[in-house]
Amino acid sequence: MCGIVGYIGTKRAYPILIKGLQRLEYRGYDSAGVAMISETGSLNVYKAKGKVSDLEAFCQEKDITGCAGIAHTRWATHGEPNSTNAHPHYSASGRLALIHNGIIENYLTLKEKLIERGIQFRSVTDSEVLVQLVEYIMQNNGIELLEAVQVALHQVIGAYAIAILDREHPDTIICARQSSPLVVGLGDDGAFYLASDASPIAEYTDKVVYLNDGDIAVLQLGKELKVVNMDNETQHPKVKQIDVTLGQLEKGGYPYFMLKEIFEQPGCLRDCMRGRINVDADRITLSAVIDYREKLVSARRIIIVACGTSWHAGLIGKQLFESLCRIPVEVEYASEFRYRDPVIYPDDVVVAISQSGETADTLAAIELARKAGAFVFGVCNAIGASIPRQTSTGVYIHVGPEIGVASTKAFTGQVTVLSMLALCIANERRTIPGEQYKEMVKELTQIPDKMEQALKTNEQIERLAPIFTYAKNCLYLGRGYNFPVALEGALKLKEISYIHAEGYPAAEMKHGPIALIDSEMPVFVIATRDRLYEKVISNIQEVRARGGRVTALVTEGDTQIQKFADHIITLPDTLECFQPLIASIPLQLLAYHIAVCKGKDVDRPRNLAKSVTVE
Ligand code: F6R
Repeated sequence: MCGIVGYIGTKRAYPILIKGLQRLEYRGYDSAGVAMISETGSLNVYKAKGKVSDLEAFCQEKDITGCAGIAHTRWATHGEPNSTNAHPHYSASGRLALIHNGIIENYLTLKEKLIERGIQFRSVTDSEVLVQLVEYIMQNNGIELLEAVQVALHQVIGAYAIAILDREHPDTIICARQSSPLVVGLGDDGAFYLASDASPIAEYTDKVVYLNDGDIAVLQLGKELKVVNMDNETQHPKVKQIDVTLGQLEKGGYPYFMLKEIFEQPGCLRDCMRGRINVDADRITLSAVIDYREKLVSARRIIIVACGTSWHAGLIGKQLFESLCRIPVEVEYASEFRYRDPVIYPDDVVVAISQSGETADTLAAIELARKAGAFVFGVCNAIGASIPRQTSTGVYIHVGPEIGVASTKAFTGQVTVLSMLALCIANERRTIPGEQYKEMVKELTQIPDKMEQALKTNEQIERLAPIFTYAKNCLYLGRGYNFPVALEGALKLKEISYIHAEGYPAAEMKHGPIALIDSEMPVFVIATRDRLYEKVISNIQEVRARGGRVTALVTEGDTQIQKFADHIITLPDTLECFQPLIASIPLQLLAYHIAVCKGKDVDRPRNLAKSVTVE
């Protein structure tokens, strides 16, 4: 969702801000804006509906001088996407400009009070309330910006990452964070960079500070970074080495990030397992399991909380933990869990799965679990994000930044981490024999090679894709470990091609969805060789008998299914529990190629945001 960029230094701010906004485009947005203090000391704000390129076009004839600036991509929550509601927002006098990510819950009350005192609003956003409130406090109390921000934030309820420019202090940006991410980059030349995540900063510096909730930072050119809280107590956040390389932020010759990320998966999973599975490939070591062995091994129950694709990974995790560790598992949509008044025991382990580490609903579910005294374990990708900081411990998936909005490599990274975690706990609990443990660990290390083989289906899938572009609805069927794969395949197609798709347990089809089947509706069946193979063949026949067109994912060497399917996609064999890691690949490719055939912007599907920081 919304993205923040800021720069204060000795170089021109505008190109840095625009490039930063482009790096954040993947988060999803519908308008963009920039504010700079020009060489002549004026505070210029330019905004445009649409893409960053529309903002650039708008700025062409404008004064874009100055070495201090803030910029923003907005994903509309309060008020339609237009240039008035876009950020930055000016204060009433035009002295301040502010950008904001998040939601101010009590903005209406604050706004009414400000209107009563004669302040006029230009936009209908909750964000404008912040800048008007800060300036009102400055003027009414005769105080400077930092103090006014501290007073204002005491009155604000909600989530925010904000950055403010003050025309009277062109060498300073003030920013603050509460439940919305903000990273400060420290330049060698005394400059400061600011962003919602490290991607806009990576090319300028490798030293960053991830602000904590409640932090207010003063970025003053040439001075040390100053961080205080609302009560003006000095904070000491740690300077960290950035974990992002420039190559990870570029398309590297691929037409879309999504395709690059699909093809990166074998390498990503090797990175994910590196240092965790030993060279003999017979043992997994996760430091979180060593440090918190007792909690994990004696868990009474595991509750997995997540959203979207991460929730699908959780469904695979459930099967792994139940079958390998013999621990009962519940998988919950974080958005439902947080409001349902669930029963949580102190000896439950709550596993929160999130690529971005910033998903508002998952964060709220964690908070609830913590309050109930449960041990909370995070499975995250984004280093230093809120979720890893709010969980008791966890494991990073280490697949590198995921830029394509449709999650691909993060999903397989999550499933890999859950597989390693389940194997570790099962080994500690002695719920699987030592030999089986070793065989499974060995097989897990073979998955990246098998994924490479699965990626060879790309050309076949590219040829098949045009057949499906005219479909209005698609059905994805799978059983056991492949049921979540069906859900995930359907979600990928929906997100980027806008074709309606449903994932279903293959056997459930006859309890309703079978009524939909006709020759117009493509049916994708994951029919790899496992315990339920024969049953899935029966399900395929049920589809065929009603005129359905079947595309089946089968295991190499399969000779049966081609008799019943219109198209066969052949995949390497592996253990049933690791099949999702292989079977997801052709479904990701299928969604990708169908969307490309339909001329869709694969990396930036409409209405979606990469990091869902509002509930
Ligand atoms: C789908 C997708 C979303 C996310 C969901 C949770 O491709 O990316 O469904 O999985 O918004 O996001 P995270 O994992 O960041 O918590």
